[in-house]
Amino acid sequence: MVSDPELADRLRKSMADIETRLRDTATDSPDPLISEAAGYLLGAGGKRWRPLLVLLGAQFGDPERASVLDAAVVVELIHAASLYHDDVMDEAPLRHGVPSAHTRWNNKIAILVGDHLVARGATLSLELDETARRAQAEAFERLVRGQVREVAGPRPGQDPVEHYLEVVRDKSASLIALAVRLGGICAGADTATVAALADYGEALGVAFQLSDDVIDIVSGADRAGKVAGTDLRAGVRTLPALLALREGGKLSDVLAAGPIEDAGLRAEALALLRSSAGLAAARAEVSRYAARARSAVRRLPDRPARRVLEPLCELMASRSA
Ligand code: IPE
Ligand code: IPE
Ligand code: MG
Ligand code: MG
Repeated sequence: MVSDPELADRLRKSMADIETRLRDTATDSPDPLISEAAGYLLGAGGKRWRPLLVLLGAQFGDPERASVLDAAVVVELIHAASLYHDDVMDEAPLRHGVPSAHTRWNNKIAILVGDHLVARGATLSLELDETARRAQAEAFERLVRGQVREVAGPRPGQDPVEHYLEVVRDKSASLIALAVRLGGICAGADTATVAALADYGEALGVAFQLSDDVIDIVSGADRAGKVAGTDLRAGVRTLPALLALREGGKLSDVLAAGPIEDAGLRAEALALLRSSAGLAAARAEVSRYAARARSAVRRLPDRPARRVLEPLCELMASRSA
């Protein structure tokens, strides 16, 4: 995906540094249980999209500034923390192909270790300047708000699809936008560039989460180390389900019941969803956000990193196609 050999080499080296620092920072605790549990999910896998996006955003300024790597580690620590908490909320049994932290230990440990990761991120963010720290704190606040609103459901009179898109923007796009934007801020990119990076990240982040929702429905039993159908099981109605509900019929009877505990019923709902117009409409929505991200890329100065950010838009659309 990175055609410029010099950029590819720089990104590879920085990602290796980030990996070491991420593990060291996460597991730095006088308590051995905290160290073990905090390193557990990071050790099991993860695509590391967010630190890579920090590095890519930084290519529009001076990517050699020390705070760029700090920012990349901070963003991934927050992401990791959110997964510990999210798996408790979603009662997800698997993450990165291993039992999720609450399954391996218990809910209390998973929640507290997530908090530990947030605290480690807060300590490291002291290395960043005030604008970067503020951006980071605000994005984390948005992420939490998105997760709360997903649990709380639509406000009285609020359209469920509009509610869901608001949730997605806050719970997922917030951190993806933060990543690209922090890269730009820490590298000293100009204001217009940082704004374009932020717009890119917001749109890419929505496309990313919506494509993840589609994958939860269309993939086989196991997808990227998670269990397919987890959203239905937890009673989380993602965009394909919400759009399918509008179609009425058998599917809406099954979905309307709330969390689908029964495996047979879940398989039936998944099969109906896979052939629903709701799923096709959700895919079209992914493409719309990918196009929005692409138009933000065009506002960026022409640097080799632009030619990495652009195909990521296609990837979001194609991974759920
Ligand atoms: C998972 O994100 C949470 C979502 C926003 C869908 P990732 O797919 O980036 O998580 P990793 O790669 O497993 O860390
Ligand atoms: C992703 O939530 C958002 C956060 C973790 C903050 P999801 O519940 O949709 O993501 P997966 O599918 O478990 O990774
Ligand atoms: Mg989840
Ligand atoms: Mg969730």
